[in-house]
Amino acid sequence: MSSPIAINASNIAKRVNSGHGHLTILDHLSLQVAHGERLAIVGTSGSGKSTLLALLAGLDVPSEGQIQLLGTELTELDEDARSAWRARRVGFVFQSFQLLSSLSALANVMLPLELTGAAPDSARARAAVLLEQVGLGARIQHTPRQLSGGEQQRVALARAFACEPEVLFADEPTGNLDSDTGRHVIDLLFALNNNAGTTLVLVTHDDKLAARCDRIVQLADGRIETADENAP
Ligand SMILES: Nc1ncnc2c1ncn2[C@@H]1O[C@H](COP(=O)(O)OP(=O)(O)O)[C@@H](O)[C@H]1O
Ligand SMILES: [Mg+2]
Repeated sequence: MSSPIAINASNIAKRVNSGHGHLTILDHLSLQVAHGERLAIVGTSGSGKSTLLALLAGLDVPSEGQIQLLGTELTELDEDARSAWRARRVGFVFQSFQLLSSLSALANVMLPLELTGAAPDSARARAAVLLEQVGLGARIQHTPRQLSGGEQQRVALARAFACEPEVLFADEPTGNLDSDTGRHVIDLLFALNNNAGTTLVLVTHDDKLAARCDRIVQLADGRIETADENAP
């Protein structure tokens, strides 16, 4: 049987050189996430949440420590290998949607499928199904500019789930949405997550959203503040 642990980060530190010398953003923290778990990372602005999420997802590398994601030691892969690995197994939703503005909703969702080798016809068919699932079946030819913020985030959700990721990371996915729209996007995120059994790691300021997760960890000054009593 495969390991029950999807993510194992041990003793990770992140330091950067800012104009004022060394800055420690993450200060030797450890975190495990179980397969299928839904974890919320909360904390005040500047506490290191986005930095931690980017490390866990392999978007960036730690200054110290190890991160195993789905059994792969990310710190041993170079940037190209990490990016190819990520494309097949990990999804990411950003606060600012990050859609390609010149492409239609359909083409945005097709892109990760084509990048991982799907034929255009099958990519198009799957992207259309996903956009239908997020309620945008009638808008697949619209570009991001022709869509509201909530609609753009729904396209981003469809894109993130396109390659059936085993782990989905979301960084304040409702941070740029009004509360009603945000709730709709979150309902969709959890529905897609339930269907696929995806492990979900999300950063949020929203207590209601955090409360829907299985576990909450609180970051403060680059460390985990809460006793992590429900850790796997
Ligand atoms: N590349 C960087 N260079 C300098 N400072 C950074 C860099 N990335 C993040 N920081 C700083 O590290 C702290 C944590 O950032 P971040 O992880 O974005 O926090 P959060 O997402 O919790 O608001 C902030 O003070 C931010 O300004
Ligand atoms: Mg952030």
